[in-house]
Amino acid sequence: MKSGDLGAYNIEDLRQMARKRLPRGIFEYIDRGAEDEIALRNNREVYRSLKIKNRVLIDVSKRSTATEIFGHKITMPYGISPTASAGLVCEGGEVGLAKAAARMGVICTAATSSLTPMEEIYNAGEGNIWFQLYMWTDKDLTKAFVERIKAAGFKTMLITVDGSVGANREHNYRNGFSMPLKYSPRLIAQVLANPGWCARVLAPQFLKRGAFRKVNYPTELANKLTQAEIEHEYTKPDSQNWDDIKRIRDIWPGNLVVKGLQSSEDTVIAADNGLQGVVLSNHGGRYLDTAPAPLQLIPEVRAAVGDRLKIIIDSGARRGSDIVKAMALGADMVMSGRPTLFGSAVAGEAGSYRALEIFQTEMDRVMAQTGLNSVDEITSQILWNPPTWAHGESEFKGEQFTD
Ligand SMILES: Cc1cc2nc3c(=O)[nH]c(=O)nc-3n(C[C@H](O)[C@H](O)[C@H](O)COP(=O)(O)O)c2cc1C
Repeated sequence: MKSGDLGAYNIEDLRQMARKRLPRGIFEYIDRGAEDEIALRNNREVYRSLKIKNRVLIDVSKRSTATEIFGHKITMPYGISPTASAGLVCEGGEVGLAKAAARMGVICTAATSSLTPMEEIYNAGEGNIWFQLYMWTDKDLTKAFVERIKAAGFKTMLITVDGSVGANREHNYRNGFSMPLKYSPRLIAQVLANPGWCARVLAPQFLKRGAFRKVNYPTELANKLTQAEIEHEYTKPDSQNWDDIKRIRDIWPGNLVVKGLQSSEDTVIAADNGLQGVVLSNHGGRYLDTAPAPLQLIPEVRAAVGDRLKIIIDSGARRGSDIVKAMALGADMVMSGRPTLFGSAVAGEAGSYRALEIFQTEMDRVMAQTGLNSVDEITSQILWNPPTWAHGESEFKGEQFTD
């Protein structure tokens, strides 16, 4: 074991280590999903169910996992999804994520709800940083916010559109965790039972930055966000629609991507509106509980839009082989949020970097085993006995019900 390994040989190791280091409510907020966690489990099962064949006696000594996205060179087709809570798992967490991504040469996405100012995260990312926007009910505030994102230097913005109402995460009701963070008796008990987290995260946060706050929210909005119910009213607008996206398209000069889609219908609308990409995502099983795994959607979405925009997916990737599988089915890039959060909880920037390193070395190994020298060579040829959906066809062949 090298000292930089942290004793973690895979993402599951980091997850188990993170579980021990975080108060239960915070760990479950990161790790668990909505309702019965059907989508959460299915995201992994679908990746596991796909089998890839090895190829032998091919010279793969000059292989590379490197590629590019929107003209930007990256070490592998992988990026860090936006997560609101990196600052809860280690002090200044979002900056650590951005630094780790810059060191590895992959994309990191700063979240609207992050606990560190966007300018600080942008500077740490050395050009590898995208911004994730949540549109608010107040259109003027959203517009001013987009101007701030532009001024900070971001070139690619990803608008998350699957959060129009709050999620039903029943474990949060039971464990006392809520965002904005409220110190309920259950959460206080968990925090006190974890003096390590208090010393590593809570105390430095209070000393350096004060209480945990969504610091990027404009004051007008932040002042109203004292209760979760009120937060939903201002930040989860169930009236949002494609006109809101068009308004942002008009003022945003960079690459524009929408995140949280699950259908070819919506992806075609995104392409028709001049967007540069979509992130097929079920938010890691955190919203619509019986949503399909994004991996399953790639072929049908690719068949519908061709190369009109980039198809990125997240939700469930935990191995380098998962990146290869998604690329084989037609994705342009894979993202995930939890693996690097687990890494951050274990060892801050070094832990997030370890998660990225695991993905990269695993992807490199699988490329060698499947006889591939470059990302462009990854095609569905490597899949053994692919299921129907992998051909871009729906599994459903039954009778159509008319009434
Ligand atoms: C703790 C946590 C916080 C998240 N916060 C956000 C957010 O603020 N904005 C957003 O678009 N997605 C958010 N997501 C969803 C991620 O961007 C991503 O879709 C999800 O993590 C994918 O699942 P995976 O990490 O299991 O692969 C969050 C996910 C987690 C686990």
